[in-house]
Amino acid sequence: MDESQQLPQHIAVIMDGNGRWAKKRFLPRFAGHRAGVEAVRRTVTACAEKGIQALTLFAFGNDNLQRPREEVGYLVELLFTSMQREVAKLHDNNIRMRFIGNYAYFGDKLTQKIHEAEAMTANNTGMTLVIAVNYSGRWDITQATQKIAQQVADGHLQAAAIDEQSISTHLSCADLPDPDLFIRTSGELRISNFLLWQLSYTELFFADVYWPDFGVDELEQALTSFQSRQRRFGRTGEQVRVRQSQRQSEQNEIA
Ligand code: FPP
Repeated sequence: MDESQQLPQHIAVIMDGNGRWAKKRFLPRFAGHRAGVEAVRRTVTACAEKGIQALTLFAFGNDNLQRPREEVGYLVELLFTSMQREVAKLHDNNIRMRFIGNYAYFGDKLTQKIHEAEAMTANNTGMTLVIAVNYSGRWDITQATQKIAQQVADGHLQAAAIDEQSISTHLSCADLPDPDLFIRTSGELRISNFLLWQLSYTELFFADVYWPDFGVDELEQALTSFQSRQRRFGRTGEQVRVRQSQRQSEQNEIA
């Protein structure tokens, strides 16, 4: 990674491969999830130290409800105990916590813990750590659509006035920039119903390691790859180069 080059403001991660990591070691799947928590800790620490503004982790997908009941129960419990252990430390490190998804489905105990963590860290000014729990991109777009439809029904909004901005502002991470970099581990090449709307122009990076083996080296590889991309947002490469050199000379004039 080149320290002088731009870093992503927002990184979104699908932490995949805990089960296969465990299977390879003849361990039960839950051992993989437990090892996954260590990788979460490493990644959060490394991203905060690098000055990343926001990190969104897909801890539990809406589609994961189809897993065996014991595994779903174990994952919810693991999230709860991890929060019990980590939230105060995250708070001490000035990290702001946010949770997105239909987490209320998992009951009052977890919901209360989530609200406590959000309230405790709300005024922190360091990295925003977003944890997606019982989340899916389609769920997010659906709940945003319901809110907009209600505004139309109440006469506060004309149907013809609905635009991309009105949809964006009702999505879960409305106050954050869209992810610049998406990382998925385990070699699977899918977005799996994650932040569907928000990933429209995100640079994708697929790491071959299983999530429990993801560490600082793999994060560096993802950042190096990100820095080698030319982000065009629909423009031509030439237009992007001209804009970049204009911005550079403006910055030089200010300095
Ligand atoms: C994917 O591996 C991983 C998950 C579904 C859960 C991720 C959860 C954690 C890492 C722990 C809790 C999270 C936090 C934020 C403390 P998989 O089970 O799909 O693996 P496989 O594809 O190899 O079966």
